[in-house]
Parts: sequence; structure tokens; C-alpha cells
Amino acid sequence: MKEVYTLEDLSSRDLLDAGAAKPARLAVIGYPVAHSASPQMHQPALDAAGIDARYIRLEIEPGRVGEAFALMRELGFIGCNVTVPHKLDAMAACGGVHPEARVLGAVNTVRFDRDMTRGFNTDGPGFARAIEDEFQVEFASLRVAIVGAGGGAGGAIATQGCLSGVSKLVLVNRTREKLVPLTERLGGIRPESEIVALSFDDVALEEQCLSCDLIVNTSSVGLKPGDPSILPAGCLKKEHLVYDTIYKPAVTPLLAIATETGCRTANGLSMLIHQGALAFQHWFPGSEPLPVMKRALHAD
Ligand code: ATR
Repeated sequence: MKEVYTLEDLSSRDLLDAGAAKPARLAVIGYPVAHSASPQMHQPALDAAGIDARYIRLEIEPGRVGEAFALMRELGFIGCNVTVPHKLDAMAACGGVHPEARVLGAVNTVRFDRDMTRGFNTDGPGFARAIEDEFQVEFASLRVAIVGAGGGAGGAIATQGCLSGVSKLVLVNRTREKLVPLTERLGGIRPESEIVALSFDDVALEEQCLSCDLIVNTSSVGLKPGDPSILPAGCLKKEHLVYDTIYKPAVTPLLAIATETGCRTANGLSMLIHQGALAFQHWFPGSEPLPVMKRALHAD
């Protein structure tokens, strides 16, 4: 058994399943993919449900997603998760794409149905569920500030905000121009939502953050040791719910100053788990993998 498999390993069942007790029938594809925590939660969920399948990491080079899907279909895979940088290519390689995934602009979950390959997005809905689970609130009732909204994750979460029906979105990005196409797109999805786009040096930054209920960091700031907090303390108040999509480290500088301020905080582990549980339910309708997945990632 390997930690990471490649396209070449998909050439035969013998190669793929050498030394393994169960056949590989699910995977996460990415490039790179060695860091992915998905097998750690999906395998226990498969085992707990008594499903005879192995969940593997599959490193697929950019541009070869279609090939990988064809081989996985031939081998009788049930489906796969898709991570960076393949979420757009995966959408193009699916025969059918769920409307929500189409609006979110990415496919992170694929199911190889008999008639066609179907694509879904559980990142957006998984985020909404993570917020509701962590803070016991209705996501749709919140005014939301997204910091680092110009990146892929930020755009998806902002889009989910509109799909869920939040009344206000404050989008903050270092490069403000990156917010222009996103703001236009969001206006088309839900014109009733108030959308404010700012850069970090905007005089209205503090006031706009303070007008929100939920602050979300979707930037990469906080990943590296020595990173500063993406927002200054003046942008936070104790009533804020503060969510960082980063989960390693578990406490980012933003979450540290938020805790000092008296805010309720949570990190991205819950988002990872909820998107995973929703993906599992696309493959196995009626299953309840969430408690097992939480336990597996020590999030219960
Ligand atoms: P992804 O698409 O995976 O979310 P990304 O495109 O690299 O990743 O986006 C990362 C986000 O982090 C962007 O919003 C980026 O801001 P810019 O659009 O201005 O580049 C933000 N980001 C990265 N480093 C930053 C820094 N030092 N300060 C502020 N924002 C930063």
C-alpha cells in the first residue's frame, strides 16, 4: 500500500490493490495531495458503515483529470474528492454538474454513476454547516465579513453566503481589484444582499467589520509561523463570531486576538469535516458519517 498513488497505478487493479485488504474505490485527487487529511476521515467512515472499499490519495498532474476519471470509472470507483488545483478541470470533465456547484464555480466531489460522471460542490454547504455547528446559529441570519475574499476559498464562501441568503457581505482583500468580478457575480446571484468591497487600507475597514456578526479568514495569512493577524484588534468586538479556514495551526494569530477580545472562535477543521460528510452522503445516500469523521479527526 502507498501513501500516494499516481495515474500509472490506475492501469490495473493488481497494481492498485497490491498488499491491501480492501479494493480502492474512492480517492482524493490533487497536486500535490500527500498532505490531504481526507483518508483519515473517510476510511473510518467506510469501515464503520461496513463498506468494502479503500479511500486513497491520488496525485494527478494538472491537465490529466479527464484521463484519471476515465480510468477510475473503468476500475469501478464509486467517486472521488477533488482538491487544488483540479476543481475547475473536474467540473469540465463531468457529464452532469449540480447547479449549486456550477454557481460556486468548482467541483470538489465526483460520483461515477452508471450513466455519467456527476459533479457536486460540498465546500460551500460544508462551510455553512460548520458555522451552524460551531456557533449554533443560522448562517443565513448573519452579516459576514470575508477577509482574503479575492482567493478561491474566499470567493466560494462569499458565493455560499449569497446562496444561503445572508443580508450583508463585507469582502476584504489586499488587492481590491480582484474583488470587482466577484462583486458583480454575487450581485447577479442575490441582488438583495448588500455587498461592500474593501482593501485593508480603506478608512471604512474597522466600521464595516464591526457592523458584521461573523468574521471569516479565507486568506493564507496565519499558515506560516511568524505571520501576523490578518486583521488588527480594532476590527474585532466581543460579540463577533470569528472563523479561520486554516486549521494548522489550530490557533492562528487572528483567532488568538479574537479570543483575547472575548469572541467565540473556531478553526477550519469543522469545514473540512462537514464538506467530507456531505461528500460521503453523495456517494452513500442515507448514511450518517459525521460522528465517526469528527472522532477520527479529534473534533468531537
Ligand atoms: P486560494 O485561491 O487557494 O484561496 P490564493 O489565490 O493564493 O489562494 O488566495 C489567497 C488569499 O490570501 C488572497 O485573498 C490573497 O490576497 P491577494 O488577492 O491580494 O493576493 C490573500 N493573501 C495572501 N497573502 C497575503 C498577505 N500577506 N496579506 C494579505 N492578504 C494576503
